Amino acid sequence: MVVGAAQERQRTGLKVLITGAAGQLGTDLVRLLSDQPHHQAVALSRADLDVGDRDAVLAATTTLQPDLIVHAAAWTAVDACESDPDRAWRVNALGCRYVAEGARLTGAHLVAVSTDYVFDGSSSRPYTEWDRTGPASVYGRSKLGGETEVFGLVPEATVVRTSWVCGPHGSNMVKTILRLAAGGGPLRFVDDQHGCPTFTVDLAAMLLHLGASRRPGLFHVTNQGATTWFGFARDVIRAAGLDPAMVEPIATADLDPPRPAPRPVNSVLDNAALRLGGIPLLAHYREPLEQTVKVLTS
Ligand SMILES: NC(=O)c1ccc[n+]([C@@H]2O[C@H](COP(=O)([O-])OP(=O)(O)OC[C@H]3O[C@@H](n4cnc5c(N)ncnc54)[C@H](OP(=O)(O)O)[C@@H]3O)[C@@H](O)[C@H]2O)c1
Repeated sequence: MVVGAAQERQRTGLKVLITGAAGQLGTDLVRLLSDQPHHQAVALSRADLDVGDRDAVLAATTTLQPDLIVHAAAWTAVDACESDPDRAWRVNALGCRYVAEGARLTGAHLVAVSTDYVFDGSSSRPYTEWDRTGPASVYGRSKLGGETEVFGLVPEATVVRTSWVCGPHGSNMVKTILRLAAGGGPLRFVDDQHGCPTFTVDLAAMLLHLGASRRPGLFHVTNQGATTWFGFARDVIRAAGLDPAMVEPIATADLDPPRPAPRPVNSVLDNAALRLGGIPLLAHYREPLEQTVKVLTS
């Protein structure tokens, strides 16, 4: 019965409101929806809708009456969050409160995006959705606050934690690595932070799938395969047809200057809720990486 209703909604089409629509994930969400014309995307960038403005969020949601809200807006400048925590709390935690209020008022299903940085990184194994959180940075704390807001107001919402997000739009590590490589190298990347690179094209498809089927709960969604930033930089260089030996490993302690926000040493996310729920996992990250590098270097 539930599956039938979900299939019907996917077939007849959804009005999907996307916050943060000009960001790297938001842009690919909008592109994905434009390839599925039975759905209607309402793309709201920060210029269109400041999610920290309650009146504006409630006005937008009640006027637009979406079926689904994908909340991709966030203040993602992890280091800058350390020196302006109020902005981080306003956008990442209160923003979630207001968007959740809008979803509750209109009956739209809410998919909110969160982060691997809700964990302190001390675990020796990948984190499941049921592991204890313990964010070490302002960004991580503010995003965890957002999760609490979402589930407090809309218990049937979907919250998706992802990690190391990359794609063809906006700024990300793939672009940084390619830019540095163009300068000739050597490139130095840390080899003691472990995570799962995740590409917007695959993440967007899973968000839409979970949202269209109104699948409630917390999900870890990453591309498969864990690496370090050093390992990832080598993969990027290799995908660009360059010599991976130009990348050298360093320790986080050797970063000069040190970065203001602490990063988890291990933020590998076990996609346990997908895996055990019988939902196909995203591809290994090297697949979308190849495609993305091709797009960025052609
Ligand atoms: N990037 C990662 O590595 C990563 C890792 C884990 C989880 N995530 C999560 O994934 C989601 C998407 O991130 P992303 O990589 O697409 O980041 P992004 O490229 O920085 O996109 C976020 C968008 O939100 C916008 N925004 C900032 N403040 C806003 C406000 N007050 N109101 C409305 N929009 C606002 C930004 O606009 P401006 O650019 O104009 O400020 C930007 O367009 C976020 O929830 C993020 O926390 C990201």
